[in-house]
Order: sequence, then C-alpha cells, then structure tokens
Amino acid sequence: MMTAYLQSAYRITLASEVDLEGWRDHARRLLQAGIAPDQVSWTIAGRCEAGELDLSPKAALPEQNSEQIARPVRISKTLLSLINTALLHSNEDRFDLAYRILYRAQSVPGLHLNPADADMLKLNRYAKAVRRDIHKMHAFVRFRKIGESEGREQFVSWFEPDHHITEAVAPFFCKRFTGMDWLIVTPEASIAWDGDKLSVGPGGSKDDVPQDDVVEAEWRTYYANIFNPARVKINAMKSEMPMKYWKNLPESDLIPQLLEQAGTRVGAMVSQAQDDLLVNHQHGVANANIPESLDQLYDMLEQQTDAPMEKFSDRLVRGTGPINADIMLVGEQPGDQEDLQGMPFVGPAGQLLDRALEQVQLDRQALFLTNAVKRFKFTRRGKRRLHETPNVGEINYYRWWVEQEIRLVNPGLVVALGATAARCLTGKAVKISRYRGEILPGKAGQPLLITVHPSYLLRIPDEQGRQVEYAKFVRDLQLAADFSSPG
Ligand code: URA
Repeated sequence: MMTAYLQSAYRITLASEVDLEGWRDHARRLLQAGIAPDQVSWTIAGRCEAGELDLSPKAALPEQNSEQIARPVRISKTLLSLINTALLHSNEDRFDLAYRILYRAQSVPGLHLNPADADMLKLNRYAKAVRRDIHKMHAFVRFRKIGESEGREQFVSWFEPDHHITEAVAPFFCKRFTGMDWLIVTPEASIAWDGDKLSVGPGGSKDDVPQDDVVEAEWRTYYANIFNPARVKINAMKSEMPMKYWKNLPESDLIPQLLEQAGTRVGAMVSQAQDDLLVNHQHGVANANIPESLDQLYDMLEQQTDAPMEKFSDRLVRGTGPINADIMLVGEQPGDQEDLQGMPFVGPAGQLLDRALEQVQLDRQALFLTNAVKRFKFTRRGKRRLHETPNVGEINYYRWWVEQEIRLVNPGLVVALGATAARCLTGKAVKISRYRGEILPGKAGQPLLITVHPSYLLRIPDEQGRQVEYAKFVRDLQLAADFSSPG
C-alpha cells in the first residue's frame, strides 16, 4: 500500500469504508480524465496507522472540461453490481482493484466474463466472501430482549462481521423484523429500527449488549427441534455455522449434547455413509478420481455405463456459464430443443426464463445454467417426443454429478427451478410453496433458493393465473439478484 501511495500522483480520500458513492464519483472522474490506475491511490478519511508518516498532499484532481464530462463510461450492469458487492470487502486494496478493472473494462469488452483474468478472479473472490458474510449475518444474528416501550418490544444484538456489510444487511432485518424495535451493534457500525425509520450509528463493543434474555429460550427449543442427528455433518456444520459465531448463539451450548445423542443414532449415520460410498461406487468414481474441471466431469459422466438410459436420449446436455458464476440455476432436465441443440434452456421454458431474468436485470451470460438430470427423458408420440418426468432413482443417480458441478463452479447462490431440482439439491421431496421466497442453507453449505420451474408457468391455462404466478417467479429471481449483489 505504501509503495503504491508513494508512486501515485493522485490520492483519493473516501468518507468511510462504505463510501461506495464516493468511489463511483471519483472513479468516473478519473476515468473521464484518462488517469491510469497506477497514478491513483485510495484511502479512507481518518485512516492513519500509528507511526505512519503524514504524507504530503497529492495533486488535486484536474477540473473536468465539458468534453470529459460527456465522455461515456462503459460498464455492464453485472460488473457494476459485482464491484458494488466486492467494495464491501475488508481488504484495503479493493478500491484500487475495482478502479483497475473499471479502467481496463473500457478497452477490453467482456472483461468480466473472462474467468482466467487475475483481477476478475480476485474481484469475484471478494464478492463471494462478502455474500457469504451477509448470509452468515442473516442467519446468526440473535436478538436479546431488553424491554418494552409504548407497546413495542425492544431487542438488541451483537454481531462481528468479517466485512463492511452492516449497512448492506439492514433492509433484510427491517423486512424480517418489522414489528419490533431492534438495534444491531457491530464493532464498526450499529443499525437501529423503530418500526418506521432505520438509523445508522457508530460501532460498539460486545459489553454494550446485555447477555441474558427471554427470546433465547425460544431459540433453544426451536433449535433442539430442528436438529436432526442423522444428518450431522460436522464439517458442513462448521462451515455453515463457523465456530466463531457459536459463542453468540443461545443454542450453541446445546450442540455438544445434541451431538452426543446423535451417537445413539450411529446406525443411521453409518448407513448414510454407506449410501454415499455406494453412490460414488455406482459412478465408478474413486476418491482419487474426483474431476478437476467441468469438462472432465462431463466427459466422465458421458462414459458411465450404469446411467439410466431407457427412455432417455443418448445426448448429455452439459451446463453452461462461467466458473465462479454468482448464481447457478438448476432446472429439471433438458427438453426436446435442449437435446437437439445440446444446450440448457434454449426451448420455450428457456425463453420464458430469459424474459424473467431480463426483468430483474440478471445477465444470462453471467449465470451458470444446468439441470438436475442431464439427459432428456421422453416418450415417442408419432414424430413428437413428449417430456417425461424423471423418477426418484434417476434424480438420485445424477445428484453426485450436480454436487460436483456446484463444487467446481462454486456459485454464491444455487437456485432450484422446480420440484426435481429441489429434490436433487435437498435430497428430499420439497413443497415449493413452503420454501420459496427465502434463502436457505444448501446441503453443501452454499445458499439455496427454491422456486418454480418456468415450464410450470407455461402450463397454467388461464391468462390471469399465469400472470400472477409469473410475477411470483420474477419476485423470486429478484431475491436471487438482490442476494447476489446487495446494496
Ligand atoms: N427445462 C429444464 O429443466 N431444463 C432445460 O434445460 C430446459 C427445459
């Protein structure tokens, strides 16, 4: 940082760690003046490490002339929202990185779609860490009741995020806990809601927040009820609920006890482990042979001789989209058109999906699209091939392969389109209406959103009903978009 500062001609001071608007304004002006990234260093007002020299002021930004003001700044919506998310990361180099990418994007169209670009890899990594932090804060803030005033209950909570996300998560808590007064204190900022207005204040310390409460008892009962010992996966649990958060959770001291009780269900766990082993064996995939790329994964799957083939097309339809995509959409299985063209979601359901994606400003090219079942299952009627729904065994067969896709693409959010995808991703039959509209913890630790399949919308006979359901579908996709690029 220091070297960058000494070599740069312009020092930009932002008002705060989350002064995204300040960054955008300055970045635009710098860009319009043609100032290269290595001429700029970024800092935050008041940030001065102990012992740091008081460095001499840098050149002021040149006044813009009218030609510069009119100069367009090229940036896709996808890249802009990715930058907005990544700028909440705690690493000090994020502002330099984002300006460098913005500068380069002016002369390299589609830069953000290049999965091998080192800057983009870093930006994606930052955005992903921020999204994960947001997900944790949504899941692990626990309120403690401190009293009541004018008929409204009042709650406080202490949380320590890794990144600068406190303000970004505020709308989520306003929506979720509209009916109560609450204050969330973090080391960097606090946010408060009084049922009408949201306020942002300075950070605090854990000691500011009382430790005992009334709500804890409810959380503990709830947690003990939902805890399923047969499903215990300590590693997944630790990654989904990192131990760092355990100390703030009222239910955390129940965990050792519940784990111990889980021992009595060890038979179930062993048989689960045996099932997993069986699945791997079924696919002839020894641990040493875990695929390292998507191409390798699909090549391996194409060579499996035990895949269900009766009623299925021979053609395997591979997933498409960038590695590290923010969002992975998982459909049911390829349809007639997808089978003919070898691409997911290119038929009528795909066209409807495209329309909805466009409406929520999600760029299809930036998403990873795939299916729970990788081949088209059909019955022949004359010249036509009619879709047939895959059965549970067929869905289970492909599950391991979908899990490998998720591991390799590493999306920030997986969206299950329809019941088949939901079953594949949760391992059980799922009632969509019960789970849609909220971000759930996915099996492998990645956040999961469940919604309907677009072809369900195409099958609704009356126009009005179709419109209502389509609007709900768009709302779910909007949630996916907001989750992927908050703020
Ligand atoms: N339906 C799906 O589930 N996937 C496709 O790829 C096309 C239609």
